[in-house]
Amino acid sequence: MPAAPTLTLRPDAQGIASAARLLADGATVALPTETVYGLAANARDGAAVARIYQAKGRPAFNPLIVHCVDMAAAGRIGVLGGEAEALARAFWPGPLTLVVPLRADAGIAGIVTAGLDSVGLRVPAHRLAQAVLRESGLALAMPSANASGRISPTTAAHVLDPDGGLAGRIAAVLDGGACPVGVESTIIGWRDGAAVLLRPGGIAAEDIEAVLGHPLARAAMGGDTPDSPGQLLSHYAPAAPVRLDAQEAQAGETLIGFGPVAGDLTLSASGDLAEAAARLFDVLREADRRGLPIAVAPIPAQGLGLAINDRLARAAAPR
Ligand code: TXA
Ligand code: MG
Repeated sequence: MPAAPTLTLRPDAQGIASAARLLADGATVALPTETVYGLAANARDGAAVARIYQAKGRPAFNPLIVHCVDMAAAGRIGVLGGEAEALARAFWPGPLTLVVPLRADAGIAGIVTAGLDSVGLRVPAHRLAQAVLRESGLALAMPSANASGRISPTTAAHVLDPDGGLAGRIAAVLDGGACPVGVESTIIGWRDGAAVLLRPGGIAAEDIEAVLGHPLARAAMGGDTPDSPGQLLSHYAPAAPVRLDAQEAQAGETLIGFGPVAGDLTLSASGDLAEAAARLFDVLREADRRGLPIAVAPIPAQGLGLAINDRLARAAAPR
């Protein structure tokens, strides 16, 4: 965990340039969108995105929204056709996230989508989010900039709150004052071709229905919090059976190594949990492509190891 103090960047050309440079170097930076402050990292750099999870202290991986400078950039990452394109034209830039099929050649790190074949895309309208996206030329993975289990921050002071904030855990916060919308983006996905409201947010469902010309299906929220629609999703899991805490491969297994356990593939030869988190979904997919049962070396249950073990336990659960 970085112990260095978190820089507060001013909302001017110099602050924007500093934020863009830090992001290009693989650091995490909190910045304002019109909904809430997001914690940004380069979506094509798995190690940088792993730092988001490290800073937030999340015990599980959840797919992250990829923020793009405009619709053309978003369309190079996910497939924007039909209703998704109509909604993008109507509401971007703005507080709307669209969950669409991920393009295979998008170069987005597996940890961003938590291994799914879909991606959440948003073009934010906020002047500073736009400026950082433009200046950096990056697509930015950004969950809300709160510690795990806390509510979303709408000021830079919330982001740095000594009680449950991210001070000392992230490189910088770009201080753009209060977020004008103050609630998260509305999230729309499609199931069997039908548009589904996955999370209510900054754009009213009625306004979306007016563009679509028909009612939205509502995701059954159950006991879930509106902050974590990802919990409603089926998670990526390998087709092959998965055996955990393996010290060595049994005959006919692909062994995924970590630290002292050398495998056919490795999460991190040096036993670095951030490197392992960054590689987890890509390595699982690669192992699954080999068509053999998968064995995984023990991963320590601390820091990012909690989220890694949570995901491995799901992958190993009987299906
Ligand atoms: O307003 C917002 O949406 C803010 C700002 C920073 O953009 N971001 C935000 O991110 O609220 P987060 O991570 O707190 O919530 C994003 C939600 C997650 O719960 C996740 O489940 C869902 O979006 N999501 C992202 N990608 C998805 C995907 N491929 N499929 C389904 N849900 C997805
Ligand atoms: Mg959140």
